[in-house]
Amino acid sequence: MIIWVMKFTSDALSLIDEVYNLSLEAKKIIHQYVHKTPLITNMTLNNIVGRTVYLKLENMQKTGSFKVRGALFKIYKLIQEYKSRGEPLPGVVAASSGNHAQGVAYAARMFGIPAIIVMPKTASATKINATKSYGAQVVLHGEIYDEAYEKAIEISRSKNYVFIHPYDDPMVMAGQATIGHEIIDEISNPAAVLVPIGGGGLISGIAVAIKKRSPSTKIIGVQPENAAGMLYMLNNKLNEYIPRPSIADGVMVKKPGDLTSKIVRELVDDIVIVDEESISYAINFLLERAKIIAEGAGALPIAALLSKRYTPLKDPVIAVISGGNIDPTLLSRIIIHELAKDHRLVSIVGELMDRPGELGKVIEVLARHGLNIVDIRHDRWDPRLLPSMAKLEIIFEAKTLTDVEEALRELRSKGFKFIIKS
Ligand SMILES: Cc1ncc(COP(=O)(O)O)c(C=O)c1O
Repeated sequence: MIIWVMKFTSDALSLIDEVYNLSLEAKKIIHQYVHKTPLITNMTLNNIVGRTVYLKLENMQKTGSFKVRGALFKIYKLIQEYKSRGEPLPGVVAASSGNHAQGVAYAARMFGIPAIIVMPKTASATKINATKSYGAQVVLHGEIYDEAYEKAIEISRSKNYVFIHPYDDPMVMAGQATIGHEIIDEISNPAAVLVPIGGGGLISGIAVAIKKRSPSTKIIGVQPENAAGMLYMLNNKLNEYIPRPSIADGVMVKKPGDLTSKIVRELVDDIVIVDEESISYAINFLLERAKIIAEGAGALPIAALLSKRYTPLKDPVIAVISGGNIDPTLLSRIIIHELAKDHRLVSIVGELMDRPGELGKVIEVLARHGLNIVDIRHDRWDPRLLPSMAKLEIIFEAKTLTDVEEALRELRSKGFKFIIKS
């Protein structure tokens, strides 16, 4: 379903040529500094999708995401530009609490250039420490991104540092385009490439490289329902766009790029939208079945394939797993959520006589059905309970729903009424 009108405007075409030419230069230098990431298949995924799906593992990239590619090439070009004027590059500055922060910090250190990263005060300790560990100076400012951005611009002016935009810059896009080149170097004519979209730098770069070298390949963007800014922008409805929190926080932007949206309009064949449940499912699927840690943004292409929001018609398909920097607490919540959805972590509630031995009888039944108890919660204070009764919630691990249903049946036959907590 193509929702927007394709318009081959001359300024978009010259921008595409500019990014492509820069990407050929980026391709030559990038592997001195960052990994050529693996392209792997997974049999379970292939069987479910019914196609051969290759995963491009940017979660295994230096700093845990593709972002370092664009930052690296941008800083490389800045150093060249300053050198040609006989000046050293004073430093770089960026505003980000996510992968861009780490990418810029790492890239600057590679070239021995000072870097200041402005993060909102709300940024997690994990992200602040990761950015510092790459040698950047971290300035905490403001509550939200916009305030951090203002501060970064102020620093850029006062110290003469160059502001590195996270996506709306041809050099940044050219750096991300090296992913497209790596794909085509290995698989000359894929049927489709699925790419997460935030501001649009990643998909613009990839689309430029791939459409030039393999014009029949479909480029499919994926956005979360809660943060589908690019789709709104292409439909000229950006004024109606209100981003909501998403597990895919890496692609949450207030406004997609002006330059990137020109390229997306020309080269991207479709944008599909996925909901939060399918992103959660995709993260857990990658972890459990493919042993891959993806952050929400990185799992978007798999969410699109598993939820059938995108059904590929030909082989092979490439899914760009753009990053793996997921907070361990969020990952653990996702695992528990998915286990509960799959009835492998179950909570049952019921009432029983508050006297010695009753709980033991219940536990004995659960044990016999192979259900491993992880928590028991007692409540005697609920005013609706008779004084002789206790309310009980038991949380346990199960292998199948059948085991749970059989245990509940046996409990009922023994006079204990328990139900699965929904
Ligand atoms: C892991 C991850 N995937 C995808 C994106 C989206 O990239 P872009 O903003 O270039 O569209 C980002 C952006 O930061 C990201 O961190």
